[in-house]
Amino acid sequence: MAPPNGPARENSADRRKVTTKSLQRMKERKEPIAALTAYDFLMAQLVDKAGVDVILVGDSAAMVVQGRETTVSVTMEQMLYHAGIVSSAVERALVVGDLPFMSYQVNTDEALRNSGRMVKESGVESVKLEGGEPICATVRRIVDVGIPVMGHLGLTPQSIHKFGTYQVRATTPEEAEELRRDARALQDAGVFAMVLEKVPAQLAESISKELTVPVIGIGAGSGCDGQILVTHDMLGLYTRFHPRFVRRYAELGAAMHDAFRRYAQDVKARQFPSAAESY
Ligand code: KIV
Repeated sequence: MAPPNGPARENSADRRKVTTKSLQRMKERKEPIAALTAYDFLMAQLVDKAGVDVILVGDSAAMVVQGRETTVSVTMEQMLYHAGIVSSAVERALVVGDLPFMSYQVNTDEALRNSGRMVKESGVESVKLEGGEPICATVRRIVDVGIPVMGHLGLTPQSIHKFGTYQVRATTPEEAEELRRDARALQDAGVFAMVLEKVPAQLAESISKELTVPVIGIGAGSGCDGQILVTHDMLGLYTRFHPRFVRRYAELGAAMHDAFRRYAQDVKARQFPSAAESY
């Protein structure tokens, strides 16, 4: 167990709260933005105290927490639950709440209502949604009421059934041009940042250079203004597949499996608890 105040803060130099404005300044200073996902209190606290700038309560919760095949099934109520506990754990990072599939696509009134719920009920500071030009009117409306919006282009997992694969996106000149148009349109609609997922590195770098808002890449090469990974992927906890853009910083799945196996063995062999572990 960590001590009551949590583990030491590795990046304690600057503990000022990260805001959409500070992310903008980081882009201007060419200071890379580090982002990760979180879905629960303990993980959010660890990620925050390690100095990560942005914490996304991703709809990837459907896959890495709930064990679903895709992100499409997670509900607004479930996202509010995760976003609420993450928000209550975070002191420094900017917290982004992912709007789940069909919570913002039906019409702009519903999108606005759900964005408002995400901010008011869970305490996150911004929302994320997927899509380009077709979603820009919605983005504008949410931003106009004062809720910061993060965009998400390239591989958009909520549309998996439309595309049928998780392969690299925007690989033809036409698709690359469409992606560039979508990125410009999102910026014009007022997003404070956007995620570019699984697109060619050169294209992502060129879009990052062209845009004034920060571009956070995942599987989009090193030329973006920041990087995001799904925490359960980079910790080696979610191992159903291993795309090459995921660098595993730990093998916690294997370590946990070993711990659980040794515990079960000890209990069955009456090796646990010992006298010292008893009263
Ligand atoms: O839901 C999520 O975790 C995401 C990241 C992959 C960016 O959208």
